[in-house]
Amino acid sequence: MTGYNHLPRVPLGIYPTPFYKLEQISAQYGRDIYIKRDDLCGVALGGNKVRKLEYLLAKAKADGCDTVFTTGGAQSNHAMLTAACASRLGMKTILLLKDRGVTGHLGNLVLDEIYGAQVRMIDTDDYQDIYREMDRLGAELAAQGHKCCPIPVGGSTALGAIGYVHCVEELAAQVPEGVTIDHIVSATGSGGTTAGLLLGAKRYLPDAKVTGIGVDDDPFEEIVPRLAAGAAELLGWDLSRRDGDFEMVYHVGPGYAIPNPEDTPYIRELARTEGILLDPVYTGKAWAGMLRLLKEGHFPGDGPLAFVHTGGAAALFAMDLPEASK
Ligand SMILES: Cc1ncc(COP(=O)(O)O)c(C=O)c1O
Repeated sequence: MTGYNHLPRVPLGIYPTPFYKLEQISAQYGRDIYIKRDDLCGVALGGNKVRKLEYLLAKAKADGCDTVFTTGGAQSNHAMLTAACASRLGMKTILLLKDRGVTGHLGNLVLDEIYGAQVRMIDTDDYQDIYREMDRLGAELAAQGHKCCPIPVGGSTALGAIGYVHCVEELAAQVPEGVTIDHIVSATGSGGTTAGLLLGAKRYLPDAKVTGIGVDDDPFEEIVPRLAAGAAELLGWDLSRRDGDFEMVYHVGPGYAIPNPEDTPYIRELARTEGILLDPVYTGKAWAGMLRLLKEGHFPGDGPLAFVHTGGAAALFAMDLPEASK
C-alpha cells in the first residue's frame, strides 16, 4: 500500500483483511460474489470504524489530545471501536450515546465498559444536542488541563473516509488475475465508508460501480459525494465522477436499528453456507438488500459483486432476529 504520507495514520487493525469468493452463495445466486472481511480486522469484533480511526485518532494524537468524545446510538459499533482504539493509544474515551434502542447492559454497552469508556446516555433524538453537550464538556475538561477531540457520529468525516480509500487499494491488490469487479456493495449508515469506497474505486478499481445500501433514511445521495469530495481534497486528488459510478439504494425496513424480519433468512443462509455472521442493523440489511436487488436483475452485466463486510456482530448479543412471515 502506498500510504498517504502527508496525513498521519496510526496502525490499529491487522491488514490486509481476507478477500475471497463465496463459492456456495455464488452458485446459489448464479453470480460471482466476493467478500471483503473487514469484520476480521483484528480489533474487538472487527468492523469498518477501525480504518477510519487509524486517521482520526492519529490526528487526535498529533493534536495532543488526551480525551476522545464520540457519539452514536446506545448499541453503536463506532462508539465501542473508538473506545477500543483510543484506549490502546492511551487516550480516555467519553461516549455520549443516544438513550434509544437497546439500552440494557448488553452487546456493545458491555464492550464499552470492558474497553474502559465513560458512557453517558443523553435523552435526545438530535445529534446537534449531543454536539452541544460535547462542546460544554470539552470546555469543562479544558479548564482542568485536558485536550479533547470530538469525533462525529460514525467517524464520517472526510479524513475518516480515507480509511476506505485504503480499503479499496488493498482489495484491488487481492482481486484474482483475470477478474474484474463490477460492483462494490456495502452498508451506508453515516456515509463515510461508502464515500471512501467511491473515491478509492475511482482510483484503484475504475471499472467498479459503488452501491451503498442505506440502513437509515438520511440523504446519502448528497452526503456520500460531499464526503468523497472532501477526502479527495485532503489527498489532492481529482474526483471528477462518471455518471452512474455511484448509487444509493435504501433497505431500512421497519426503521434504523430495528431488525427487518425479511432479512432473517438471508442472515441465516450466509451463516449456514459460509460460516459468516451478519448483524441485523447494518450488514444483514445491506447483504439482504444486495441479494434482493440481484434477484430483481438490478446489477447489470455478469461481472462479480464485492460485498464489504463492515462488522457489527455485537448486535447479535443485544437483540434477537425476528422471524420472517411465511
Ligand atoms: C457494522 C457497521 N456497518 C456499516 C456501518 C455504516 O458505515 P458508515 O457509518 O461509514 O456509513 C456502520 C456504522 O455505524 C456499522 O457499525
